Amino acid sequence: MKGLGELRRAIEKRGIRMNRRLWITITGAILMSTLTAGGATAKSGSTKKSSFGKGPDGEQVDLYTLSNKNGVEAGISTYGGVVVSLKVPDRTGKVGDVVLGYDSVDGYVNDKSYFGAIIGRYGNRIGHAQFTLDGKAYTLAKNNGENTLHGGLKGFNKAVWAAKEIPAKDGQALELTYLSKDGEEGFPGNLSVRVVYTLTDSNELKIDYSATTDKETIVNLTNHSYFNLAGPGSGDILGHVLMIEADKFTPVDAGLIPTGELRDVSGTPFDFRKPTAIGARIDANDEQIKLGGGYDHNFVLRRKAGEAISLAARVVEAKTGRVLEVWTTEPGVQFYTGNFLDGSVHGKGGISYTKRSAFCLETQHFPDSPNQPKFPSTELKPGERYHTMTIYKFSTEK
Ligand code: BGC
Repeated sequence: MKGLGELRRAIEKRGIRMNRRLWITITGAILMSTLTAGGATAKSGSTKKSSFGKGPDGEQVDLYTLSNKNGVEAGISTYGGVVVSLKVPDRTGKVGDVVLGYDSVDGYVNDKSYFGAIIGRYGNRIGHAQFTLDGKAYTLAKNNGENTLHGGLKGFNKAVWAAKEIPAKDGQALELTYLSKDGEEGFPGNLSVRVVYTLTDSNELKIDYSATTDKETIVNLTNHSYFNLAGPGSGDILGHVLMIEADKFTPVDAGLIPTGELRDVSGTPFDFRKPTAIGARIDANDEQIKLGGGYDHNFVLRRKAGEAISLAARVVEAKTGRVLEVWTTEPGVQFYTGNFLDGSVHGKGGISYTKRSAFCLETQHFPDSPNQPKFPSTELKPGERYHTMTIYKFSTEK
């Protein structure tokens, strides 16, 4: 950089006579940018884009790495809108990954567990792969016995999303968009979907989901991250201590379709109103636990009057001190304990993902809502806008 005196002479030569205040402003700005570049002030966030490989049809797939000023990092892939990695500090400040996933896009193309993915058009199951809307019957793709799970054979988790970095007041934001065509997997209406991931400087991964349609349809979007707060490969999650803000859950039948009942959690293994180890009752002699092979159930979240977004769940891992809070505008959360993981899948760094080595807290409307008149509606009409928000917030405890 030129010396300050030289700079002043150069500016004055161009005919701009400088008063004292203007000169102080210019030199102040120069000083600030020099300090920031030299790292003397707090680190700021950044977003980096790199190639993550090719999709199944040769499409370019990118990986965006969002970092905040505390060194927290979220890796997001345009394939499936997947959260590939989420690196957060433990109580000593050491940053480590807390989600399961794969090292490259091929893993996600072949994946059947929905690691980290955006789920749509309908999160969780729709019984008998059918529903009726406005008197018209719709048949969906069956991909889970007789039922439709997580959007069908090719859900939003298998789509390549368009990505754009967008400005955010509170951190680094990435906008993903996808057009789900009329008739895709049997769902009516062209659904225009937008998901914004924001990594905030308060160590939150905020997910904003929105959608509009040109024909009456149903929509229920979520994210399917599998968490292990001690890190993938550190064993099972049975010792993690969980609290869920739910007085009721939705019991299921043998196909994991809700029966329609909202059952009180009192006196059952589903009572997580007081923090309890996930493993404390996971093998209890309970009909619902047996049907799920552990926890694989939707919880009916409590709502505080006037609160737009509420705490849904809180998880603490004692060894690392990591704490995860889940906040959402949604009425339900699917608590799934990775019962179907069997060690056959090898993920990041070749780690084998064994039974119950992660848990999911999928915020959502209740499974099979289109066939359950008493459940909150998942219908979306032309002219309306679907919008939900979920925040995964990380901190530590002593
Ligand atoms: C479902 C499980 C399913 C898992 C992975 C969860 O949301 O409730 O039954 O196995 O996703 O597909």
